[in-house]
This record gives sequence, structure tokens and C-alpha cells, in this order.
Amino acid sequence: MTIELNSPLDMHLHLRDHEMLNVVAPLTSHSFAGALIMPNLVPPIETLDALLAYKERILTVTKNDIFKPYMTLFFRDSYDYDFLKSFGSELSAIKLYPAGITTNSEGGVSGFDVKKLSPTLEVMSELGIPLCIHGETNGFVMDREAQFVPIYEKLASAFPRLNIIMEHITTKESVEALERHENLYATITLHHLLITLDDVAGGMLRPHLFCKPIAKRPHDRDALLDVALSAHPKVMFGSDSAPHPKHAKESCGCAAGVFTAPLALAKLAEIFMEKSSVANLQKFVSDNARAIYNITPLSKKVILEDNPMNVPHNYGEVVPMYAGESISWSIKSIE
Ligand code: DOR
Ligand code: ZN
Repeated sequence: MTIELNSPLDMHLHLRDHEMLNVVAPLTSHSFAGALIMPNLVPPIETLDALLAYKERILTVTKNDIFKPYMTLFFRDSYDYDFLKSFGSELSAIKLYPAGITTNSEGGVSGFDVKKLSPTLEVMSELGIPLCIHGETNGFVMDREAQFVPIYEKLASAFPRLNIIMEHITTKESVEALERHENLYATITLHHLLITLDDVAGGMLRPHLFCKPIAKRPHDRDALLDVALSAHPKVMFGSDSAPHPKHAKESCGCAAGVFTAPLALAKLAEIFMEKSSVANLQKFVSDNARAIYNITPLSKKVILEDNPMNVPHNYGEVVPMYAGESISWSIKSIE
């Protein structure tokens, strides 16, 4: 049995830089036609020169594949019309991080004073630049995303022409918010469709499943599965595949991030097949993103088959999800 996917897209991806970029970028470009590249490098991407140079480095290491990096900027409330206009079509979205909420987000927004953010958000509305948000407060870790929903709603109401993407949603509350505002959208990761907090910390601590936002309760995961499997038009796949070296994960201060890029499509095929929803996979991994971002991806056909994939123990220094285990689907061919 086979599944054919046209131009799969990963609308939330961390590629890092230098050696790490060289290891991980080809693992995405092999099977995806494009990906939205997160800007949380050190220092973050916040100028046109930095963005174009990073894009070139990505294109260099992915040159053997049909792959387009969709580039993003790190949100600053100082960005004005001329500055953002100068990016033209090079800029696909701007990513907003609350200060210190996750990896390399120290320069993010503190306090969420909508008035302070307004001039930049107005310009983004005018230029049609989507706003991607890591939506967590600094409250109790299990409640951070739900506490952020009123902020999403406030922004969505105040800027009705601004497309806001709730990144890597993990809760039922976020799923419900999608229905209340026309301009709210969401990405969903592979790992949040699969795990709950129990998998991370219910038994022995599993550092390779530790990420931000942390996986939540079974009813949250079920709400995510519902909208993903039905390919709700406002949700799209964004892996949030976030590589960290093994020593940074298996340490007493474990870095947040789950690395899923090389197995994402195979595992999605397995899930959608098991849940009798395979007819919706194309929408979840490509068509919805095309409509939400108004993009036409490079043409690429990925054929998956029900032949097991053995997930390696590591890719360079990075340990993937399902390391050493087997997934019942795999990539057969790519055209
Ligand atoms: O777990 C995460 N890792 N969540 C994020 O938001 C950032 C990411 C990273 O960059 O490692
Ligand atoms: Zn991320």
C-alpha cells in the first residue's frame, strides 16, 4: 500500500546554523518541499542581510533537494513600514516570542503591552505579513498556553486583518479559540499528536520528549488529534523539530526540543492510516498551509509505503524521537 503526497510543507522548523545546520537541514529537505524556518539563532535573525545570508546557507546545504526555505524574522516592536517593506517577498512571517519562554528567546517581548506592539503589528497587517506566536505566559507550566489564549484573542480582535498563527498548540483551549476568530490559525507538531505529560515524566524522565510547550493532558491531545485528522482548514503541520546535541538533552538542565524531522512524514502516515483519515493527510501537510500563507510550493511528489522504517539512534549528535525503534511506514520514493 502507498500514499502519495504533493509538496509536503513543514510550517515550523528549527535548523540552527553551522555544523548543526549541515546535519539537520538535509533531513528535512529530503522529504519536504519547503519549511518555515524559525529565526531564534544566536543572535536572532533581525535584519535583511542576516535573513538573506541564513537563507543562502540553508540553500547551500540543501542544494541536492527540491526545497524552499520560507524565512522569518524575530519580532521587535521597533520594526517600521520602510524596514519591513524592504524585505519584499523574502519575508514569509515574523515570529514573536515572549522573553525567555524557550530556547534563544531572551530578546523577546516582555509584558505584552498591546499599545507598545501596535505600530509594528499595524504595519504587518498592512503589508500582509503573518504573525507567528509562541503563546505561553510565565505562569504554571501546565497552564501557560491556556493563560495565553486571552492574549491571542485580544490581538486577533485588535488587528482583524493580521493573520495570527498560534504555534505548536497543545491544548483544547487553543483549538477552541480557532473557531472564535477568523484570523487565528495554528500549527500542530507530530509529537503533540502522540504524547502527553505522562510520556515525558510519568515514568522515568524522558529528556528527548521534553519541549516547550510541554505536552499536556489526554483530552488536550485528543482535541489536537481531532482537528489534525479532520484537516480542519485552520490547522497545518509544523513539526517544531528542534535539534539539540545529546549532551544538552541528557543533562541536569535539559534543553527543550524534540527532533522529529527525519521521521515526521512516515509517522504522520502511520497515524493518519491507523485513524482511517489518510484522505486528509495531504491537506494537513500541505494544502492548508498553501491557503493560509497564500503560497505555491515547489513541485515534489513523495510516495510513502507500509514498509517499516528503522529510526537511527542518532543523526550526528542529535537523538531523534523513536530512536532505535521502528515506524510501520517509510518513504518509498521522491520525484
Ligand atoms: O521545545 C522547543 N524547542 N520549543 C521551542 O519553542 C523552541 C525550540 C528550540 O528552539 O529548541
Ligand atoms: Zn519552535
